[in-house]
Amino acid sequence: MSISEIDIRPAVRPTQPPPQHTMRALRDRRDELARRIALGDRVAVERQHRLGKRTARERLELLLDPGSFVEVDMYRRGTTGAHTDGVVAGSGTVDGRRVFVYAQDFTISGGSLGAGHAEKIHKVMDMAVATGSPIVALNDSGGARIQEGVMALNGYGGIFRRQVEASGIIPQISVVLGPCAGGAAYSPALADFTFMVRETAQMYLTGPDVVKAVSGERVTHNQLGGADVHGSMSGVASFVHDDEESCLADVRYLLSLLPSNNLEPPPSYEPPEDDDVRPELASLVPVEPSRPYDIRGVIAEVVDDGEFLEVHEGWAANVVCAFARVGGGVVGVVGNQPLVLAGVLDTAASQKAARFVRFCDAFNIPLVTLVDVPGFLPGTDQEYGGAIRHGAKLLYAYCEASVPRVQVILRKAYGGAYIVMDSRSIGCDLSLAWPTNEIAVMGAEAAVNVVHRKELAAAADPDELRQVLVARYVDELAHPYYAAERGLVDDVIDPAQTRVAVRRGLEMLRDKRRRGPARKHGNVPL
Ligand code: HXC
Repeated sequence: MSISEIDIRPAVRPTQPPPQHTMRALRDRRDELARRIALGDRVAVERQHRLGKRTARERLELLLDPGSFVEVDMYRRGTTGAHTDGVVAGSGTVDGRRVFVYAQDFTISGGSLGAGHAEKIHKVMDMAVATGSPIVALNDSGGARIQEGVMALNGYGGIFRRQVEASGIIPQISVVLGPCAGGAAYSPALADFTFMVRETAQMYLTGPDVVKAVSGERVTHNQLGGADVHGSMSGVASFVHDDEESCLADVRYLLSLLPSNNLEPPPSYEPPEDDDVRPELASLVPVEPSRPYDIRGVIAEVVDDGEFLEVHEGWAANVVCAFARVGGGVVGVVGNQPLVLAGVLDTAASQKAARFVRFCDAFNIPLVTLVDVPGFLPGTDQEYGGAIRHGAKLLYAYCEASVPRVQVILRKAYGGAYIVMDSRSIGCDLSLAWPTNEIAVMGAEAAVNVVHRKELAAAADPDELRQVLVARYVDELAHPYYAAERGLVDDVIDPAQTRVAVRRGLEMLRDKRRRGPARKHGNVPL
């Protein structure tokens, strides 16, 4: 018998399905359930709004392109009994580019994290890595779900492990929009960039009650771990905002500057039509070595459209780290800031710049370093606080970076700080110097006082002699041509041509490749 001859009709013809089982009825039921899940608990949603916070879904609407969100595991129920188990997870697009997201829902058991909640997060993290897409976490949670005990802690561990495994492979952005207490705060700390909103977001390992019980100290939630604390004192928050709208808009802006993964070049844009010559630059930087000025003015003249996104604006402001574009390509800019602490390197500035340099290197973003540095901040505070160890991090980060690296020495570069700020000796590809600057072991006067101590002591008019010696030191030993003649500076440039020179340098280095011998990993001085 051939197949076509087999009677495949059912022996008994099915009767009509009951009305509640028609496809239309089933679909309506499904739609109604999905609608109710999305609406959430009215009272809890109203409370969330009263607290000045948006719901998880409202936040995702602000973050993602309209209509692009694809949700996973909406029907998942955990110990809360509520669908979603307190986290909305899935994927969407930002400016048409794929990202994976999860948003903790404080209206369900305070967004607390149990095993099911965590598994949903693990799933989208795994998908983000598998597809080479950034992950954005919106945190608003009371932490480990107390009722689930060690299973909740196990869930957190799975997030942390995945974050570490994904580090340097996909960009990770953590946005803190409510409480983020206890060990949960390690997740924003492990992310590449952390955003916080003033007043409504807090991060701390132990809350105000525990602090009071242990040390008697009385602090509010915000005094202990508010956005300004982490944005200006601890350095955990890379960006601080007044409200959720501007915060999520800036997350979109940051994503527009980052590649989706470490195998992709960063996004490139149509370069602006300008002649690149910037005569204003020379007047922005005073000739006197210690007169303050704002390095951000210089950055604005060097990058496309004067536009840049500063990371850690409120923390360690003596160094500026920013993403920008030059000739349409994204770059990471590191610049000493003479407006704050005279632009010295200290423990915080070294950590801030080191982490930024390592992010740029991991994600193929070329580095432009603008140098105007008097040295390291002296003092017992700094030495006891590990200035050597933290400075070594920045040194390590630059030495290791294999992306194109352009250094511009604007005014002065002294001592160890000169070496650390991407000097030729540690591997910058192109070193440019303005003709006005001083590159030396130390400032002219200090150097003369050491080297000519005996002559100065014996001189009839030591001040006059000092002036002569300082002028000679600046003109000869500390002059950029001294370095250029020895191959440590590639070109001495007219300040007005800085943007042209940086742009051409980056074009020249675009296809740079560097591979070291295989190793498990280096031992960065953490
Ligand atoms: C279970 C929790 C919860 C938690 C909050 N809820 N946190 N349920 N586990 N960790 C529930 C509350 O019982 C309440 O449920 C609802 O969420 C809203 O909480 P409220 O307290 O009413 O809200 P609010 O007054 O705004 O205060 C928010 C809060 C507070 C400051 C976060 O809830 C709080 O202190 N929670 C405990 C925080 C904490 O200690 N977490 C553990 C940290 S240790 P109902 O049913 O009443 O609506 C940790 C370890 C992680 O997380 C380790 C990883 C390595």
